[in-house]
Amino acid sequence: MKRKTFLLILALFIVEIASNDCQAKLERKQKIIEGLREQIKQSMESNNDVTRCNDWTKYQGKSYKLIPVATRHNEAEAACRKEDAQLVSIHSDEEANFVLGLDPNGDQNLHLGLSKSGDKWSWSDGTEMNYTKWDSSQGNGFKWAVLPPSKRWYKINDDGWGQIICKRAN
Ligand SMILES: *[C@@H]1O[C@H](CO)[C@@H](O)[C@H](O)[C@H]1NC(C)=O
Repeated sequence: MKRKTFLLILALFIVEIASNDCQAKLERKQKIIEGLREQIKQSMESNNDVTRCNDWTKYQGKSYKLIPVATRHNEAEAACRKEDAQLVSIHSDEEANFVLGLDPNGDQNLHLGLSKSGDKWSWSDGTEMNYTKWDSSQGNGFKWAVLPPSKRWYKINDDGWGQIICKRAN
């Protein structure tokens, strides 16, 4: 062992002996444990059933990822397919709230995985269309749709912009 290292260890040892007050140590430990407990509690309360893993956030068994760039529909769809996912589909108010919450700015339109074929709308991920929330101010003649902060689905065409939320089945 080098002399310097030895002296350092000796010094630490002496400090340790000097501060070897058992009660103080216990209290310090307790404080750390209490702090951790509070952190865990807060994390459980704030996240509910949401857990974050890399860029993907899990919610009710599905995974979601925000790609925070504004694109047109086709680019957005391609970006999600590259992630082995699809543009987000929405099946409840709660899911819409969750999805909007993924966007930290909260003032952007988010592309939906909706497309119109003939006069029938469907989800690109193949899930059932069992919930709709259209903005009633619009007519026909649109191909795609976005989820605005108002939560009312707003129809767009090829020239409509939005940010990207991808969704995976697991
Ligand atoms: C609607 O469809 C989704 C996706 O298939 C499913 O998870 C959900 O349970 C359905 N909701 C209702 C109310 O049927």
